[in-house]
Amino acid sequence: MIISGKIEETREQIKKWKREGFSVGLVPTMGYLHEGHQSLMEAARRENDKVAVSVFVNPIQFGPNEDFASYPRDFEKDAALCERTGVDLIFHPEAEEMYDEDFCTYVDMDGLTKELCGKSRPTHFRGVQTVVSKLFHIIPADRAYFGEKDAQQLAVVRKMARDLSMDIQIVGCPIIREADGLAKSSRNTYLNAEERQAALVLSRSLTEGKRLIEQGERDAQKVKRTIQAVITQESLAKVDYVEIVDFADITPLRNLEDARQGEVLCAIAVLIGKTRLIDNFIVKVDKAKKE
Ligand code: PAF
Repeated sequence: MIISGKIEETREQIKKWKREGFSVGLVPTMGYLHEGHQSLMEAARRENDKVAVSVFVNPIQFGPNEDFASYPRDFEKDAALCERTGVDLIFHPEAEEMYDEDFCTYVDMDGLTKELCGKSRPTHFRGVQTVVSKLFHIIPADRAYFGEKDAQQLAVVRKMARDLSMDIQIVGCPIIREADGLAKSSRNTYLNAEERQAALVLSRSLTEGKRLIEQGERDAQKVKRTIQAVITQESLAKVDYVEIVDFADITPLRNLEDARQGEVLCAIAVLIGKTRLIDNFIVKVDKAKKE
């Protein structure tokens, strides 16, 4: 497995593989890898000749009062997991390699980035889009893999790739959960034992919301209220948002049947103590047939 911290060296290696006729899958990560990331790497392994993983805690996607400095890091453990999963190359640059002192070019988007997490993290997606665009230039892969756990990020990256005619296929992969339902996340390590237990309210509330939809409820407000009511029962939890949006363009829905491509995203962000956790489900909703 090749480990490189340098842009040019990495680009040359990928170009060499492409010249040799190999397809390349890219898994962008911020490290502290868990089974969620591993499932992305496994998907990339199945579908490509070569797999590249980037491990980079991207400073420009964190707001001034967010957890950039304390974000968990363990590169040795990450490298061992990549090796075990059959990764061919890890790109692990320093911030100075990615961002010159006079760096001033950003990729931004209207619409999709303003809802959900964009409301409390107004510069987050600009940072994500900028670094993902840079990664796509450094590692011109055939496919890039993103988890549905960050569903808004997946929708934003898909839209960016389409809008900017990027020659890469964006592949979304299902959320991986702990046995008790908590969605895997590097930020789960911030939780103490009591908070870890309280955090189960996220998946529990979504299960209730999903049940309602499966029973035929199509009024977004009713589904939202049900989810909110479950979260409110947990004293350590504070709702940031509960939203039901069209997964295609992240616009809020009143009626679930209005999703343009029939895919509805039900997304929540909840503070458990000081830790902000997100979770969601995506559900297909057919339009009711008119008699
Ligand atoms: O999902 C993440 O880990 C990050 O937002 C990403 C896509 C690697 C960009 O820094």
